[in-house]
Amino acid sequence: MLGKVNHIAIAVPDLAAATAVYRDTLGAKVSEAQALPEHGVTVVFVELPNTKVELLEPLGEASAIAAFLEKAPAGGMHHICYEVDDILAARDRLVAGGARVLGDGNPRIGAHGKPVLFLHPKDFLGTLVELEQV
Ligand code: CO
Repeated sequence: MLGKVNHIAIAVPDLAAATAVYRDTLGAKVSEAQALPEHGVTVVFVELPNTKVELLEPLGEASAIAAFLEKAPAGGMHHICYEVDDILAARDRLVAGGARVLGDGNPRIGAHGKPVLFLHPKDFLGTLVELEQV
């Protein structure tokens, strides 16, 4: 069911400082910061040969990233995103197996303009999992 790792997302309290770590200390190629108000984040994409890392800074009051940073003020891994061919088939298989999908259970359009779902971390080894149809 799972394809490639599409991205790994890291919540950060200071996007400029986090970008400098990846660009200057680690020598990675990084994008400009992009505000995505509908997702409650400002994001920088770190482009790696085989995948992306996304640095997420909270944007707005209702940001899920803000709540995450209250528990992890220095930042931390927020979620891992796997690619799937058919997100509805993947969801139906997971739900039939007892897994919980966040929100209303229906895919929404994610930060890359493709349908995504988030799976409850308690069902996946304490890690928030995003599925993206590619
Ligand atoms: Co993501």
